[in-house]
Amino acid sequence: MTRHFTALVLLLFSFLGVHSQEIIPYPNHYEQQEGKLIIPKVITVSAESGEFSSLIPGFVGMLENLSLKAKETGKKGWIQLVRNALCHNPEEYRLTVSPAGIVVEAGCANGCFYGLQSVFQLINSAGTGGSIPCAVIRDNPRYGWRGLMLDESRHFLGMKEVKKLLDFMALHKLNKFHWHLTDSPGWRIEIKRYPLLTSVGAIGNFTDPDTPAQYYTQAEITEIVQYAAERFIEVIPEIDMPGHATSAVKAYPEFSGGGSERYPNFTFNPGKEGTYTFLTDILKEVTTLFPSKYIHIGGDEVHFGNQQWNHLPEIEELMKAEGLENLVAVEHYFLNRMSDSIRTLGKTVIGWDEVVTAGLPASNTVVMWWRQERPEQLEKAISKGYEIVLCPRLPLYLDFVQHPSHKYGRKWSKGEYAPIEKVYHFPDTSYTSGISVATPLIKGIQGNAWTEVIHTPERLQFMVYPRLSALAEAAWTQDRSKNYENFNSRMEKMMEFYKKSGIVFFDYKNPDLSPEVAGPERR
Ligand code: ACM
Repeated sequence: MTRHFTALVLLLFSFLGVHSQEIIPYPNHYEQQEGKLIIPKVITVSAESGEFSSLIPGFVGMLENLSLKAKETGKKGWIQLVRNALCHNPEEYRLTVSPAGIVVEAGCANGCFYGLQSVFQLINSAGTGGSIPCAVIRDNPRYGWRGLMLDESRHFLGMKEVKKLLDFMALHKLNKFHWHLTDSPGWRIEIKRYPLLTSVGAIGNFTDPDTPAQYYTQAEITEIVQYAAERFIEVIPEIDMPGHATSAVKAYPEFSGGGSERYPNFTFNPGKEGTYTFLTDILKEVTTLFPSKYIHIGGDEVHFGNQQWNHLPEIEELMKAEGLENLVAVEHYFLNRMSDSIRTLGKTVIGWDEVVTAGLPASNTVVMWWRQERPEQLEKAISKGYEIVLCPRLPLYLDFVQHPSHKYGRKWSKGEYAPIEKVYHFPDTSYTSGISVATPLIKGIQGNAWTEVIHTPERLQFMVYPRLSALAEAAWTQDRSKNYENFNSRMEKMMEFYKKSGIVFFDYKNPDLSPEVAGPERR
């Protein structure tokens, strides 16, 4: 009923030549007003405070990319950035569009930056010589955690692509970049104390074990972290352990806990004291590179390759000494040791949902719920008081195909996949087996771009866009302000902007005209 009503209103507006605000994610409160604002030949921007003024060059650069003329002015600008003590949430902003210009009000630089992203989208959709409907917008996010994960272990995409992704995250008000930097196929972060991690561990990827070493130097990591911070995006590193460790133990075999036939040398060795020193040393360097309060330590799928633990004398000794009954208890012992190290480093642990049974302290652990077929993991996480980020494979893993005709990405049993519409409607309780996620323990949601089936920038873009736009609206916009038909109509302008920006995307409205970008052929 509500949807039909909104569609009717939209139709009416379009007859009247008035369009709803062309903003993604959709603002949480907006009132359209009489009149319109004409885009001038030269857009001037002024700021009351130095902090807000520092946001202007980036914004001017974005407008210049649209071939619009823009500059900062010391006088009252066509756009005025005003500090407003009334804003409580640092991400909140207010926008007033009147026939005289635009006022962006915010309490903090984050909010002001988001106000400017909205203004940018309004200007972009109006175009040179066009106009924007007058309106008042008051906006703040549904969730504090609005994340995207990129796996660069399986395929390395590189700095240029990461920056492009961060630009688009910022435009969409996404604020957490979870960087999966280590896994079995390749170790991608320079650690000065252990140079073999990159000179040996960074060789190869998911499709070719002989690809020359690809990784980020510490200087490059710092550059990305800074680039992200300028866009109000926090970068959370993931160093996966005790499984998914093949690349690391290829470089330092003395810390290997062995593997299985399918996953050889998959684990670190929890029975050796040296393993904890090695990993803690690594995390110390990681800590100096990433200002985020979080370190993600994975913790997933250890059973894929811990069978040899049964045959290692040092693990037998550990089990005896600590009274550990089975390999799951050994895994939990390991996680607790590393969690203690991370707490000592002043950071908070994030782990995949396997960690909910490890007995880690709720006060210092965040759980990422990823297995939609295991709702009990979500239920346990809630009952144990963990903070949680929701990122179930369906519909939030971006390596799943987005159209039934697509051949290269993943599908779930019975062919289930992850179309944009499902991403948009997340998190409705149908995705969580009826478990209510209306609890403050839910920090937010995240899309995960795993790269087994993604090997080039073009392929990454094809899998990320347009679902990133839907993810952003799911993370930012309250249910009462969400409407899929309205989103579809706003996506017209967004897809035009993708095109202008050289992004390769899936035109979900015209699937026949939008050929799938092929994934990697496995060797
Ligand atoms: C995961 O997808 N293994 C977290």
